[in-house]
Amino acid sequence: MKVVVIGTGYVGLTTGVALAYLGNQVTCLDIAPEKISKLKNGQVPFYEPNLPELLEISRANLNFTTSYDEAGIGSSDVVFISVGTPSLPDGNADLTYVKAAAEALGERLDHAFTVVVNKSTVPIGSGNWVGTLLREAYSRRKGSRPDGMYGVASNPEFLRQGSALLDTFYPDRVVIGSEESRAIDTLTNLYRPILNQDFPAPVHLPRPDGLSAIPVVTCDLASAELIKYAANSFLALKISYMNEIGHLAEKVGADIKQIARGIGLDVRIGPRFLQAGIGWGGSCFGKDTAALVAISKEYGINMPIVQAARDVNYHQRTWVVDTLLHELKILKGKTVALLGFAFKANTDDLRDAPALDIARQLIQLGARVRATDPVALGNARLFHPDAGIIYCDTPMETVRGADAVILVTEWPEYHDIDWVEVKKSMDNPLLLDGRNFLDRHEMVRLGYRYVGVGR
Ligand code: UGA
Repeated sequence: MKVVVIGTGYVGLTTGVALAYLGNQVTCLDIAPEKISKLKNGQVPFYEPNLPELLEISRANLNFTTSYDEAGIGSSDVVFISVGTPSLPDGNADLTYVKAAAEALGERLDHAFTVVVNKSTVPIGSGNWVGTLLREAYSRRKGSRPDGMYGVASNPEFLRQGSALLDTFYPDRVVIGSEESRAIDTLTNLYRPILNQDFPAPVHLPRPDGLSAIPVVTCDLASAELIKYAANSFLALKISYMNEIGHLAEKVGADIKQIARGIGLDVRIGPRFLQAGIGWGGSCFGKDTAALVAISKEYGINMPIVQAARDVNYHQRTWVVDTLLHELKILKGKTVALLGFAFKANTDDLRDAPALDIARQLIQLGARVRATDPVALGNARLFHPDAGIIYCDTPMETVRGADAVILVTEWPEYHDIDWVEVKKSMDNPLLLDGRNFLDRHEMVRLGYRYVGVGR
């Protein structure tokens, strides 16, 4: 099929590259010229495992442009809107980019039937709103109605940064919402190779054992839109729930990792997203839980459970600082080393990263903060140059003279650093494992004062 993807962030670019790999002709459009020129040179503008390799493999089916006129909108089968929808101060999603994209698309609709798909996470009702924008923009430009030229669908994305391609090729489910069966049929056909799992797996991304078919959920627009918010909020509250139980576990002398195993084996609960730690960050959970609370308010409904998940989550960051205060008594003049800065491993994304909040709070209390990260250091230096943090290129440089080390991000390499040498470099061997990632007994054996979360 002929596909246009608007927006080349994690969702848009991953979708575009995956669909190109599956044999579709894909044009990726972005209004940022620097992103497009990088992509034309075969470079991915952010860190995402396997994406550069797959871009290279799929190049023959990919086209990159900053121009709506060159993208061939009117002759496309499917156009994905995958632009950013950041949070506004009141928690609602900022739809400026969605609006601009929908209007630009509407002006360029043509006689071919095009499915316009909201892939960005957008508030309930955005499908209808995009439909209106398309119709109005077309009528303004052409003076007639674009009847039969488009259908609007919602096709929420469930990929995780760091495993974006794996989640795209081998998803748990595909959700397609639309009021028009023609739009649902077109998207079902586009996703057919994924639904049937009959495409040759990319060399870097072998198919999980036993995976043979992917369920598809077809529904109305509003349900698809709400599925996305409900899924992210549920995952967010699963984690916050474990963090809440973790505080009690710590008091009563229980171990949250054992508790996670003990409850996760219950198939009704499931083992995933039960890891207690310093809480979730990233561009999605914080934004989507805030949006769900804000949307509900419009309908006169409170969302106390979702709100509580947010409160518990952001409290975890303060808990880290309180724990250091408790352990070190005085923070003024003390040096704290952060291992990991990205909001999770395998990404260079710093949006809503716990590391930033923790560093800010520590600096406010008079501590010196040193930080490192295997891939996010460039972004940290670029976007937070004045945060007062001393950025270090290596873990060993970071921990030199430290009074405490906080393991913030569970990068695999931090498991295997020379913890004997780390301890020798520190002034005081306090280790706060914010992800319960290291072997507690081993760390204690090496002479660390080890503090985990909920244990
Ligand atoms: C999340 C969802 O998992 C995706 O399904 C969704 O498509 C995406 O948001 C989105 O809306 O775009 P992502 O934010 O990339 O994906 O990362 P996750 O792997 O979900 O992790 C989110 C945060 O939760 C991270 O800070 C991670 O460290 C934390 N986490 C995760 C925990 O603290 N405990 C866990 O058990 C799991």
